[in-house]
Amino acid sequence: MIINLKNILKTYPECESPALNNINLSIKSGEIITLLGPSGCGKTTLLRLIAGLEKPDQGEIYIKNNQVTGNQIWVPPEKREVGMVFQDFALFPHLNVQQNIAFALQNMKISEEQKKNKINSIIKLVGLSGLSSQNPADLSGGQQQRVALARALIQDPLLVMLDEPFNNLDMNLRSKMQKEITNIIHKSGTTAVFVTHNQKEALSISNKVIVMDKGQIEQKGTPRQIYEKPKTKFVASFVGQSNILSGTIGKEKNTVITPLGRLSCRTDHNKKPGTRVDLSIKPEDIKINSSGSIQGTILSQKYKGQYVEAVISIKTSSNTKSPNKNLNIYLTPDDSYKKGDKLSLSIPPKNVNIISS
Ligand SMILES: Nc1ncnc2c1ncn2[C@@H]1O[C@H](COP(=O)(O)OP(=O)(O)OP(=O)(O)O)[C@@H](O)[C@H]1O
Ligand SMILES: [Mg+2]
Repeated sequence: MIINLKNILKTYPECESPALNNINLSIKSGEIITLLGPSGCGKTTLLRLIAGLEKPDQGEIYIKNNQVTGNQIWVPPEKREVGMVFQDFALFPHLNVQQNIAFALQNMKISEEQKKNKINSIIKLVGLSGLSSQNPADLSGGQQQRVALARALIQDPLLVMLDEPFNNLDMNLRSKMQKEITNIIHKSGTTAVFVTHNQKEALSISNKVIVMDKGQIEQKGTPRQIYEKPKTKFVASFVGQSNILSGTIGKEKNTVITPLGRLSCRTDHNKKPGTRVDLSIKPEDIKINSSGSIQGTILSQKYKGQYVEAVISIKTSSNTKSPNKNLNIYLTPDDSYKKGDKLSLSIPPKNVNIISS
């Protein structure tokens, strides 16, 4: 493990609730991790604790099995071998690209020749050859970001942490830089933690996603696990726009009784028959199917380019007390449905996800 966090608690002075509460997290060598969560959930605080820019009230932090925080132990930031790319890049405006990068080497005990070689090879790695003598003001947002990354990587850190690195970039540059930066990180062989509140970004750049809310970790997993098998209502709604339903596990493990009727569901849950549960179902998993058991009427539609987002009013089954239920589904733009059209729908059992009791 490169990083180990144990039972971290952090409350800022004059704040009622903790910024981080009971955080336990391990990061393996070579992983690209993303911290994903809404504004104020504690993402930056977590990075600052790992970097040694902030002290927790309780808990321990280990870097490569060496304790750096906790039990009266404190290793200062410059001795932690972690690099940080701040959201605003924090480049020196009066220094050119080469000098900005060289600044990170000033305390390193290596010869001038070695420094020069290191700088040249990192400039090549991040694709800034030919721009060494430009000042930050003469660079594009994407180029400035690469200087900031080069400055973090040149110290050969055990871990590089990037706080919302793509926020200042327009949409096209953003997706280009996501690919480029993750390629550079893979090539450099380092371990990385990204911070984002953009779920698509988190799913596409990382090996592992940590979803956070209100200072706590809601779920850790691969992008696929987080997207397809959310474990809490929060994760289900924050990662993709899930429909949340309540229900009761049926006599068999693979059925659940819901306001939409009896649905077949996934069986990777350990709930007993009769247990009340919440379900999450992604809009794209609800299919139009003439023999489907769910009947509904189109209430509204919104064109989104690749798909049309439709709200369907569902006739709830006669033996539930629930009022009519609305479902969000995605239609293909070629479908020419209109408001008021009646649809029959079905949901494949593998897409009916039990999230909690
Ligand atoms: N220096 C500080 N003093 C007091 N409270 C702070 C301080 N820094 C952060 N907080 C509070 O701690 C909580 C977590 O803040 P943090 O900056 O870690 O959130 P974040 O997830 O990075 O949010 P964002 O996505 O907006 O950057 C917030 O409620 C914030 O107001
Ligand atoms: Mg932040």
